Amino acid sequence: MSRTALVTGGTRGIGLAISAGLKQAGFAVAANYSGNDAAAKACEDAIGVKGFKFDVSDFEAVGAGIAEIEKDLGPIDVVVNNAGITWDAPFHKMSLEQWQKVISVDLDSAFNVTRQVWEGMRERGFGRVINISSINGQKGQFGQVNYSAAKSGLIGFTKALAQEGARKGITVNCVAPGYIDTEMVRAVPEKVLESIVSTIPVGRLGKPEEIASICTYLASDEAAFITGATMTVNGAQYIAS
Ligand code: CAA
Repeated sequence: MSRTALVTGGTRGIGLAISAGLKQAGFAVAANYSGNDAAAKACEDAIGVKGFKFDVSDFEAVGAGIAEIEKDLGPIDVVVNNAGITWDAPFHKMSLEQWQKVISVDLDSAFNVTRQVWEGMRERGFGRVINISSINGQKGQFGQVNYSAAKSGLIGFTKALAQEGARKGITVNCVAPGYIDTEMVRAVPEKVLESIVSTIPVGRLGKPEEIASICTYLASDEAAFITGATMTVNGAQYIAS
């Protein structure tokens, strides 16, 4: 029987590529999304992965969403905590709402989702948790104190939880993408983005599939000895130690 994977924010951008990669590798995949019904329908039409609508920043809503997924597809063996937003501003202009919204969607979500599948993974002696961090959680980014804090927080979350899952067959890893060709990155002002791309030694934005392939590997049985790691995938823009 195939394993079941949940990809948060799994109907668009990097998440869509991750959903497609896992589906192709034989997983039964559920793609969570928060609001864009048209994108969810397009995802189902294109790759045959159904969307499940709930807000990952709301613990109760996540619980209900997970119950629905498990009823449909069986117990969740793999979680990819991918859902994330940006709301950039220099710190002196950043509102409390900008701070709280980004922290809750990008960081609290990892608790809300993982906590509610964790006991099942422990009982079954198998699990894969993959947290999508960012180059900007590793190096910090001007205009992204909120996002950099959340994405850096995911790295600490990963390192601690990996130690707790290790004896139970559960691996917990981070993937830290650089600038990938998605709507989120294309929303950066053109001039700013041009100057960012000029600092990527590989000379281009990354592709969503280049993030998806590492996630598929981390989800596999073969990756059982990789845990607590942060996989940097950024075209050498920032070489983390
Ligand atoms: N380093 C130093 N100074 C910088 C700077 C930088 N990287 N970027 C801008 N500045 C300076 C400008 O030169 C300007 O200085 P002066 O006031 O002295 O002229 C000042 O900051 C700009 O101030 P503004 O009041 O005009 O700023 P703003 O309100 O227009 O906001 C910004 C600017 C929103 C931060 C804009 O620079 C921006 O969007 N930056 C890109 C942030 C970014 O990389 N976001 C990534 C989104 S994609 C993503 O996050 C995915 C992922 O994981 C990689």
